Amino acid sequence: MKKWLQEKLSCPECLHQESRLELEIQTEQADDVIEGQLTCTICGRGYPIHKGIAILLPEKSLPILTESKGYNSNGMLSSYLWSHYCDLLHDPDATDAYKVWSSCFRNTDGCALDIGCSVGRLSFELTRTHANVIGMDTSISFIRKARELMNQKQLQFDMIIEGQITEKQSIVFDNGWNYGNVDFIVADALALPFPQNTFSTVASVNILEKVPDPIKHLVGVNRVLDDQNAMFVFSDPFSWDEAFVDPEHWLSGQTEGRYACRGLETMGRLFAGEDGIFDPPLKVTAKQDVSWKIRKTENLWEHIHSQMMIGER
Ligand SMILES: C[S@@+](CC[C@H](N)C(=O)[O-])C[C@H]1O[C@@H](n2cnc3c(N)ncnc32)[C@H](O)[C@@H]1O
Repeated sequence: MKKWLQEKLSCPECLHQESRLELEIQTEQADDVIEGQLTCTICGRGYPIHKGIAILLPEKSLPILTESKGYNSNGMLSSYLWSHYCDLLHDPDATDAYKVWSSCFRNTDGCALDIGCSVGRLSFELTRTHANVIGMDTSISFIRKARELMNQKQLQFDMIIEGQITEKQSIVFDNGWNYGNVDFIVADALALPFPQNTFSTVASVNILEKVPDPIKHLVGVNRVLDDQNAMFVFSDPFSWDEAFVDPEHWLSGQTEGRYACRGLETMGRLFAGEDGIFDPPLKVTAKQDVSWKIRKTENLWEHIHSQMMIGER
């Protein structure tokens, strides 16, 4: 964990008390803490830093760390590495999705947060325009790889062709990314471990439909986003699935009630201030459908239309 992160972090269990974390360093390399601990000055809970990765999960989310399925699986790693870096690999099937999402970023001396950053592409793009960038995800496998890319400035992975048959992919990055200003931590979108108003840009891309309480996620975004000169980069396919979110919590696609509508309509209402979720409200400055692909194997692809809406205040 890079040392500059310490002052941007707070305890995920003491969110409304704006706690600070004390840093104890056991081993370090240059500005990177390799082994150590962060300790909350209010509740006394300790958050480990192991092999350079800070784990800022609240107690109830800790079981995610040891899951070997889902987003921690080898298959997901291959899928998301392709999805994030396919254009740089010059794959003929590539999309330009991450270029579209990052085209809205504006130069600022503020800090950016990429929630559900996966293997880091959008976080790296954010380093072109922001003084500091934090990528966070609950998947330790994704965060480990994102930090490896950051440290090695190159990508190497075994892309799944079929079953255990893989093909080596590699690329040396040469994209003007600022590797010193970015870092990646394990943290939960429903317990954002940052003081209020920390970020001038927050990205929530393709994660709303994956968290069990989407409104809680948006309330958290509002808390950590600055009150002025701030941008919320939101995108989601609204492909609600009971496996991730109980239908009672879906924010669109219901057949009756206030969310019997399409996702972008709900987001427009929430950006405008409905229920005080975004306070101050956000002005919609851009909307676009982004064509995005996930490559599972040579023969299995997901084609996704992610609906982007940019809000500013
Ligand atoms: C559909 S993927 C999108 C990844 C990335 N934002 C993108 O668009 O390429 C969802 C991501 O959210 C992460 N995720 C799921 N639940 C999360 C949570 N509660 N907190 C943080 N990240 C979460 C997953 O590990 C995964 O990386």
